[in-house]
Amino acid sequence: MLRKAKVTDVNRIKELIGFFSREGEMLPRSLNELYESIRDFWVYEEKGKILACGALHPSWEDLAEVKSLAVEREKQRRGIGREVLNACLNEAEGLGIKKIFALTYRPRFFQKEGFRIINKVDLPHKIWSECIKCPHFPDCKEVPLLYEVK
Ligand SMILES: CC(C)(COP(=O)(O)OP(=O)(O)OC[C@H]1O[C@@H](n2cnc3c(N)ncnc32)[C@H](O)[C@@H]1OP(=O)(O)O)[C@@H](O)C(=O)NCCC(=O)NCCS
Repeated sequence: MLRKAKVTDVNRIKELIGFFSREGEMLPRSLNELYESIRDFWVYEEKGKILACGALHPSWEDLAEVKSLAVEREKQRRGIGREVLNACLNEAEGLGIKKIFALTYRPRFFQKEGFRIINKVDLPHKIWSECIKCPHFPDCKEVPLLYEVK
């Protein structure tokens, strides 16, 4: 079952993101950041356990970011990531946002879902000015991709 996240999901969301950030596959998120952005999050729950999460973060005029998309390793490749991503894309459309970007180490997953690789400098300055907060700055290996609602 896919649903919007609640504050009671934050610890599990942190655990999911923490697992992949320790593996170097995504950026960590602090508890504070997660509570502040809880309304951005979707979770996928099965038999009372959250197996996946993902967030849509509106960031600029006509632009939002898909962030913190993570599916428990043992449950990957079953279509859950696609479901969470589609929920984010539909939500963006509902908000009137037609461009959604992602920064990821898994570009092929996003390409399969209709995203195309772009040049990071094509994103508004505001987005990459936030890169300075990243532990990998300035040695960034994330691939920027963009999805445009038809
Ligand atoms: C990326 C991630 C969210 C994909 O979730 P998932 O549930 O395994 O993906 P799905 O099963 O919905 O896959 C959807 C499609 O993408 C493909 N796909 C999934 N992961 C892929 C990968 N690493 N490389 C290539 N294709 C991939 C699937 O084969 C599927 O295509 P198909 O239907 O033609 O077979 C998951 O691997 C993950 O949590 N990774 C670690 C964290 C991360 O990198 N997050 C993304 C950036 S924030």
